[in-house]
Amino acid sequence: MTTNRQALEASSRVFPGGVNSPVRAFAAVGGDPKFIARGFGARVTDIEGQHYLDYVGSWGPLILGHADPDVVKAVAEAAVRGTSFGAPTLAETELAEEIREAFPAMEKMRLVSSGTEATMAAVRLARGFTGRPLIVKFDGCYHGHGDSLLVAAGSGVATLGIPGCPGIPDQIAAATLVVPYNDEKALEKVFETHGPKIAAVIVEPVCGNIGVVTPLKGYLATLRRLTRDAGALLIFDEVMTGFRACFGGVSQTEGVTPDLTCLGKVVGGGLPLAVYGGKAKIMAQVAPEGKVYQAGTLSGNPVAVAAGLATLRKIRGNAQFYPTLLKTTERICAGIEESARKCRVPVHINRFGSMFTVFFTKETVIDYKTAKTSDTKLFARFFRGMLERGVYLPPSQYEAAFVSIAHGDEDVALTIGAAHQVFETLR
Ligand SMILES: Cc1ncc(COP(=O)(O)O)c(C=O)c1O
Repeated sequence: MTTNRQALEASSRVFPGGVNSPVRAFAAVGGDPKFIARGFGARVTDIEGQHYLDYVGSWGPLILGHADPDVVKAVAEAAVRGTSFGAPTLAETELAEEIREAFPAMEKMRLVSSGTEATMAAVRLARGFTGRPLIVKFDGCYHGHGDSLLVAAGSGVATLGIPGCPGIPDQIAAATLVVPYNDEKALEKVFETHGPKIAAVIVEPVCGNIGVVTPLKGYLATLRRLTRDAGALLIFDEVMTGFRACFGGVSQTEGVTPDLTCLGKVVGGGLPLAVYGGKAKIMAQVAPEGKVYQAGTLSGNPVAVAAGLATLRKIRGNAQFYPTLLKTTERICAGIEESARKCRVPVHINRFGSMFTVFFTKETVIDYKTAKTSDTKLFARFFRGMLERGVYLPPSQYEAAFVSIAHGDEDVALTIGAAHQVFETLR
């Protein structure tokens, strides 16, 4: 049997840090990453045969759990028909229609293969449409690893404490303005100073990449007003939040409509698929209708489209889907919170729909600055304690845990019981 340690030694000889995406390393929490052999429902099994209750969920896509039978069937059937054609298929249009049910503001859209591609394309389109150079983003928001957006980023960048990314020319970084999230004054100021040059504001309308942080009341409406008044576009990056709280996204729960939306993760059902889209007149600028170029050999890949369609249809076909999922998540968060209080470990839990973060801080977390008041060493001990008890959380304080519909009553009890035991060791 290959052990996790042997697997990491071998993978480290061929991959930087032994992983194919930095967040998979256990850099912030210590120990070796688990090499996963298989997953089913809410559980994964590593190559040493250890089972874990999984709250990583492939970092968001697996809202139905691992290897959902309907998704697996759809994928297998699609693969048998052919894995890629580089030509349009009927299913792409079906998927787009399903997405538009959930996000009516995405009048027209383009399928791509990753969230990074979606946000990169949306930013280019915003610049092409407005003829303006500047992009505004928020401190700690992560929009994938495109040059314009990897400035003051969250997720792995925050976890590893990388201040700026070598390889991004200063001129490109300078065209991205960064403001703190949830700070209306800072937003007003950036528009006062740079308004006519701002092509777009891109935001995770609920942040997930500094851990979960929700918008203060009225904040997104202010963002909408300021962008509209300045003639700038508003881009909601709902790669993580899309379909996490309802059959739609934050645009629906908060009643704020952006000009462009980016989706990924759930929409691809665990396969590489993402989307950007919005107002038809803006999307008309995208080639071949317009001159803003963006393309992809595997865009709208039939196997990925089949997984996305099966996922969205299964969700939409079950009226109890979101009530059940949200109730499960609420119970997990309430149980962890109560255990922490009983054990006198100061935590703040932020939640949006079926994603949550346990922040190890006394502060209410409303932005990256307050997220950084968290005791990351204590988080690391919590993470390791949970893992030892068979609960696999994202290996960083600055990430969201994801609950799936496969998480049931027993899993809720296991999680709360494990958290209680771990908190007892932390007080
Ligand atoms: C909000 C957000 N946008 C974009 C991305 C990038 O997506 P991908 O990893 O598919 O490139 C992520 C990934 O975590 C994300 O959370």
